[in-house]
Amino acid sequence: MVKWWNQTAFYEIYMPSFKDGNGDGIGDFAGITSKLDYLKDLGINGLWLTPFYPSPKVDNGYDISDYYGIDPAYGEMEDFETFISEAHRRNIKVIIDLVLNHTSSEHPWFKESRSSRNHPKRNWYIWRDKPNNWESFFSGSSWEYDESTDQYYYHAFAKEQVDLNWANTDVKKAMFDVMKFWLEKGVDGFRLDVINFLKVNNSFQDNPYDHEKNEQIHLFDKDQKGILDVIKEIAELVHQYPDKFLVGEVGSEDIEILKRYSGTGKMDVSFNFNIGSIDKFDAEQIYSRLVETEQAYESDQMPTLFFSSHDMSRHISRFGGDEERGKLIAALMLTAKGVPFIYQGDEIGMKDWVADDISMMMDVQGRLAYEEAISTGKSKEDALAVANERCRDKSRTPMQWSPASYAGFSKVRPWISVPDESCTINVQNQQGNPNSMLSFYKRLLKLRMEHSSLRTGEYEFIDYQDGMLSFMRTNEFESTGVALNFSEEEKTLNIEAERVTLLLSNKRKLIESAKALAILPNEVLILRRILKK
Ligand code: NOJ
Repeated sequence: MVKWWNQTAFYEIYMPSFKDGNGDGIGDFAGITSKLDYLKDLGINGLWLTPFYPSPKVDNGYDISDYYGIDPAYGEMEDFETFISEAHRRNIKVIIDLVLNHTSSEHPWFKESRSSRNHPKRNWYIWRDKPNNWESFFSGSSWEYDESTDQYYYHAFAKEQVDLNWANTDVKKAMFDVMKFWLEKGVDGFRLDVINFLKVNNSFQDNPYDHEKNEQIHLFDKDQKGILDVIKEIAELVHQYPDKFLVGEVGSEDIEILKRYSGTGKMDVSFNFNIGSIDKFDAEQIYSRLVETEQAYESDQMPTLFFSSHDMSRHISRFGGDEERGKLIAALMLTAKGVPFIYQGDEIGMKDWVADDISMMMDVQGRLAYEEAISTGKSKEDALAVANERCRDKSRTPMQWSPASYAGFSKVRPWISVPDESCTINVQNQQGNPNSMLSFYKRLLKLRMEHSSLRTGEYEFIDYQDGMLSFMRTNEFESTGVALNFSEEEKTLNIEAERVTLLLSNKRKLIESAKALAILPNEVLILRRILKK
């Protein structure tokens, strides 16, 4: 039986930046609920919410201090419950982000753990007398000295995000209780944050160094033995509840690593960074990553398709800022084999924002990169350039709803800068314009709903030639062909026009009768094969 998540187009909501409902400049549940009709109309049937739990927000909620609550900036439990029931009323599923790897340093568990070496919770976190050479994924050492107990604690990210010790079964039990709590509240599943970091190697050997790339190889602090066993237990627990979904953030572009974590009895899917984080608008590279994934995955594994997120540069900017390219990527995401995850603002072609001054930078990773650059003697200007590279604010600016002040996101100055181009790139301007990016997303999402082959079909073929990617997806009911011309030149698709009907194109309304079709530069062409009588 086809699972619901296999039929779903997900949409990532970055909590503080989607819609402010109470006029404090920060997105919240009231705001999201007020936009559910917009999402429904767009054709979304699944949401992923970034963390909304109480948090000091050093890393915007990925530092949780209470797993059972709602951060007051986002509302109260009642607002969450209203949101869930309103989403479900519209047949929209909701999965929530869960950070199992680390807690905030303000979490009571950590406060207890750091209170004394003999505290029963000491062993809930990872304490050592001496640090090894492991580097944090944000900046500097991943060990922080704690003066009062004269030991170091481990943190893979910021020092305020303290890694839990998953070798301790009490930690597991506590987190399983958290999962049960939210499942009973009615969420449809979880997005598991940095799940392949869950355990470190208990030999604590130093990581080796890659001298060519000039960076540490994270050999002992991720993808360790034992993580998969925990994932299997998580899957068993979660799947005891009917119809729940697990997607894992496995921070890797290596298909062999990605494939380890999903499938029957494991997570349902994991994020395919091997496809999503490509940095060039290059059809050949996309093709080879799609094929690599197709060849590596077993029949119980399904890829995910995304090109932007709150951690990445927005793909339109990454690929040169061209709207036509945004449409090609949209078509790829919504017609190739995989579970799509659209990032808020993708659907209107939002672009990256860049900070002119360090005082405008909100992201901890950007700020730490700045401090590090300054400490190594870089000028303020150079340090800002380095920080902007790593800073994730670029894709975290408020959703651009209208040309009004603050992009119609809030009535007051938002917590983060609003890009000037919100005056032109916004939902209001694009609604009702048949040629807009928003209308294109809507057409694609509708088509995906109407044609089951686009959701569950296997590749009958997948091909790349000279700037053009094409594939055919077929299931027991139909065949749908997709041609994506990534090049600036006309290309030829060898397909008999008599045997196809046009489903969607960004460049034409009809197809001429011919043995071969001319595909225009940057054209998206989606065709249905007519079976011979
Ligand atoms: C991945 C999240 O997506 C990112 O925003 C966060 O900084 C890290 N995990 C650490 O939790």
